[in-house]
Amino acid sequence: MKSMTVVGNWKMHTTPQEARILLRDILRGLTHLREIHGSGPWPRVLVAPPFTSLAACQETLRDDEFAETVWAVHLAGQDVFWEAEGAYTGAISAPMLLASGCRAVVVGHSERRRIFRETDEEAVLKARAALQAGLDVFFCVGEGEDQREAGETFAVLRRQLEPLWERLPAGAQGKLAIAYEPVWAIGTGRAARPEDAEEAAQFIREDARRHGWEGDLPVLYGGSVTPENAGSFFRLPSIHGALVGGASLKAASFLGILEAAWKAAEGSL
Ligand code: 13P
Repeated sequence: MKSMTVVGNWKMHTTPQEARILLRDILRGLTHLREIHGSGPWPRVLVAPPFTSLAACQETLRDDEFAETVWAVHLAGQDVFWEAEGAYTGAISAPMLLASGCRAVVVGHSERRRIFRETDEEAVLKARAALQAGLDVFFCVGEGEDQREAGETFAVLRRQLEPLWERLPAGAQGKLAIAYEPVWAIGTGRAARPEDAEEAAQFIREDARRHGWEGDLPVLYGGSVTPENAGSFFRLPSIHGALVGGASLKAASFLGILEAAWKAAEGSL
């Protein structure tokens, strides 16, 4: 039996009203899944709405109608700035995320790195600040298509992770997970081959150990995860869940992925 985590990264989708509806549909579906799977081990479920929809989601999670399932779903931020407050127009800090009901944050997503030109160093500053403030961190790494074709995958992962291992604050154990998201698999419908995801996850876990990480380090896979292919990743020994983009925007497909995670957690996949 493995503990499993599924994070729905809603990216720049959902107004507050849409977020409320989507989250309610997920909660309703979870009630149903719970009836099927009984009180067995629940996967850890998080959704990361845009900042502007956090309040609507926080409110929804207080709704008595879903008292049976709300405790199983947590909110995450999609990004965070490393300072706690100050003159940083447009930025959101870790204490602000905590005060908005977030338990966790996604850091270093390849869209942040590629489109917003975030560096490896900045991603680490963010992860560090978030961990120090008490948030769990899903730290994203992954190679581009050219890099994979050139046989540079491990070199890229090592480069993205090195500054993280060097600057991890004390107490990160149990609060950090790595999301392996090959850039070419994101939003393309071309998921990685499970054996390649497993190889990358093993590399990440070994790299962590080489740098003194003790105990388990969960690795999630991300990139075109669907209800149809989720099981092929969740079955892998070194993959502990998924970071889901497109398929997390419809309750039915997100719930399909959660069901696969549930089966992996109870050992019935
Ligand atoms: P897709 O699931 O849409 O490929 O996105 C993956 C991702 O970037 C999750 O963070």
